[in-house]
Amino acid sequence: MKRSYFLILMAAAVLTGLQACKKASGDYPGDSYTWDMMYSKAYEPYALNPLMPDSVGAMLPVNGTIPYPGNAISGQMDPALASISLPYEYAKTDEDYERAGLELINPLQATPENIAAGQHAFNNMCAVCHGTEGNGKGVIVASGKYGAVPPSYFDAGYIDMPDGKMFHSITYGKNAMGSYAYALTKKERWQIILYINSMQDAWLASNQPAQTQVAETDVNP
Ligand code: HEC
Repeated sequence: MKRSYFLILMAAAVLTGLQACKKASGDYPGDSYTWDMMYSKAYEPYALNPLMPDSVGAMLPVNGTIPYPGNAISGQMDPALASISLPYEYAKTDEDYERAGLELINPLQATPENIAAGQHAFNNMCAVCHGTEGNGKGVIVASGKYGAVPPSYFDAGYIDMPDGKMFHSITYGKNAMGSYAYALTKKERWQIILYINSMQDAWLASNQPAQTQVAETDVNP
């Protein structure tokens, strides 16, 4: 009894060995005994998937999906970026322009990195009109080829313009200025606003003392 078991086992081992020696060639990848484990039946990620006729294998995100503003594995989330990920809830109306000015707060901190990123984007996209110094005298304005007049960020009404109004105008455009929502992420828009704020602070710092002096001479002639 024992002997016949042994023989059967040996025969099976020899057969398996011989089978394994069959050479793979061309379209024949060689035999395998667990083919359904070795060859996945998964659909190609970007090929059409017959189970989801309206999607590709990898499946498109559901309409209205909001990107997760953090590390999906550790769950760590930056609360500042959370508000940036949500849809912009203000409409392109004068009322909502005012409302954005009252309610919106720049979610980013004025770190050197954020300001530098804002400066980079500003110089690329805005300086042609607004000027690298933000005085409204960009190259296409100076050339006389642009009809509208961009404001100086240091003029009355602009020097203390609420961040939310700036964000609203960059997002939807304002009169002669077009919308930049297509070209700048919300984060980039807020970074640009930090940079504009920093130009305004520098302007105030260098112009305020002169104004104060005038005021003082007025009071005590
Ligand atoms: C093609 C020229 C042009 C470019 C480029 C441009 N702007 Fe303007 N911008 C203007 C003009 C003109 C106005 C004045 C609009 C008005 O109030 O009539 C303006 C107004 C503004 C205002 C004041 C908005 C308000 O609510 O009164 C801000 C802030 C501003 N621009 C930021 C930007 C930023 C940031 C960029 C780059 C992303 C940019 N602009 C690019 C022409 C431009």
